[in-house]
Amino acid sequence: MTVKIYVPGDMASVALGADEVAGALAIEAAKRSLSIQIVRNGSRGLFTLEPLVEVETAEGRIGYGPVSPDEVPALVAAGLFEGKPHAKCVGRPEELPFFKGQTRLTFARNGITDPLDFDDYVAHGGLKGIRKALEIGPKAIVEEVLQSGLRGRGGAGFPTGIKWKTVADTTGDQKYIVCNADEGDSGTFADRMVMEGDPLQLIEGMAIAGVAVGATKGFVYIRSEYPYAVAAMQSAIKTARQRGLLGAGVMGSAYAYDMEVRVGAGAYVCGEETSLLESLEGKRGLVRAKPPLPAHKGLFGKPTVINNVLSLAAVPHILAEGFAAYRDYGVGRSRGTMPIQLAGNIKYGGLYETAFGVTLGELVDVVGGGTESGRPVKAVQVGGPLGAYFPRALFDTPFDYEAFAAKDGLIGHAGVTVFDDTADMLKQARFAMEFCAVESCGKCTPCRIGSTRGVETLDKVAAGDEREANLAVLEDLCNTMKFGSLCALGGFTPYPVMSALHHFPEDFGRPPALLDAAE
Ligand SMILES: Cc1cc2nc3c(=O)[nH]c(=O)nc-3n(C[C@H](O)[C@H](O)[C@H](O)COP(=O)(O)O)c2cc1C
Ligand code: SF4
Repeated sequence: MTVKIYVPGDMASVALGADEVAGALAIEAAKRSLSIQIVRNGSRGLFTLEPLVEVETAEGRIGYGPVSPDEVPALVAAGLFEGKPHAKCVGRPEELPFFKGQTRLTFARNGITDPLDFDDYVAHGGLKGIRKALEIGPKAIVEEVLQSGLRGRGGAGFPTGIKWKTVADTTGDQKYIVCNADEGDSGTFADRMVMEGDPLQLIEGMAIAGVAVGATKGFVYIRSEYPYAVAAMQSAIKTARQRGLLGAGVMGSAYAYDMEVRVGAGAYVCGEETSLLESLEGKRGLVRAKPPLPAHKGLFGKPTVINNVLSLAAVPHILAEGFAAYRDYGVGRSRGTMPIQLAGNIKYGGLYETAFGVTLGELVDVVGGGTESGRPVKAVQVGGPLGAYFPRALFDTPFDYEAFAAKDGLIGHAGVTVFDDTADMLKQARFAMEFCAVESCGKCTPCRIGSTRGVETLDKVAAGDEREANLAVLEDLCNTMKFGSLCALGGFTPYPVMSALHHFPEDFGRPPALLDAAE
């Protein structure tokens, strides 16, 4: 009998020693002349447990983690291959509170299946979405996506169905689907996990988009820092072609759709959609003025759907189960689930997919278990480097696009980065300005010049040089950047800066904020 063992092969788990653990397991099995099959699944998403080794038993999959390579001989001697108890045994991973509390729609297969095994994909619900899509046709597909309430998960939260409808309604001899997998936001990794852990789902989502809008060609633009995702996507695309999901007749239909991977050279601004299109065309990543919208004139001047990985990866489920099965989760205009990424100084960091509406406090204190350092949480930055810092006083804010906007924040790509009470918020504000100065594409003055002036002004504040006068300059500068920048890099940098100043004035030499002081 062959024992099936799962050892994640995604980049994060490999960085934590998963390859060496897999090697050590193979050696121990060989010593015992035991036949084992090691499946390199994706991570389930709780990184404190990685590398998480799972063994298939009659009682389901039993997990052990985190396992280091030198622990493997003792674990095997204690009965790991039979799923026996051990201090490192976590039981059935899906029973752990971190996973039990989740609603996994987009991440349903992550950590469960072999990412590159087409049959495993189909056995776990893969292809149901594209089959339904081909059955109902382009107009009805767009309608399903519209009705699902899905909004772009890349940051702006624009309704995906409206974007698709615009491209579908625009005439063009060639249309494109572009997947934005640049994932530049600090503390985010959900796109990478989809591409490494369930790449066929993204391909299926992109094929559905192609059929819906009449695009026959697609590109996935992946950041160069993601070599494992690049390899997984390339391999999955090849398999999808062999198995008829991609090609001249998608799943034997009359619709043609094929796609390929493009690797970015590493600039934050290349995640901005028009800059990404320039980069895809082989040019420098410079932001384009809008209009025209990419939906009208996008890649090579042709109508283009450009969507984030998570937006496209949500689509197969919506089609397979019907729009209501997605729309019925969530609150207000934030429908469905969001794969939230808990990072920074947090005890249980990882991927937590849940319906919109969970509060920031629940995420940080309950799901995340507070800080890794054990010190009090001081601030949480939500939405990457352009997101606002939230103090504990705002922990009752529900995860919802509008609720965050009402508190001068944003959800963005749902990165949640936690800081403890040793964080200096003036330094964080300076970092935001510096980041903008380094990453600015240089096209418009408020961002190109404003960010550098912002760094200088914050340095003066830090030095106690005419503090109040310089803070007034900083606020003025932030307003100019917010309202005068061409894109959200310059336009949103004021969010982390002003939220740091507003919620943590004491770090800028001002008296503490009343709201926070009351805490
Ligand atoms: C500076 C900047 C960086 C961005 N980086 C990303 C990114 O890494 N990934 C992403 O999907 N969207 C990013 N966006 C948002 C895109 O411009 C665009 O809104 C998104 O790709 C559209 O897809 P969606 O509707 O599915 O969210 C960025 C925007 C800006 C202004
Ligand atoms: S805001 Fe910054 S990144 Fe955006 S177009 Fe202007 S200079 Fe370029």
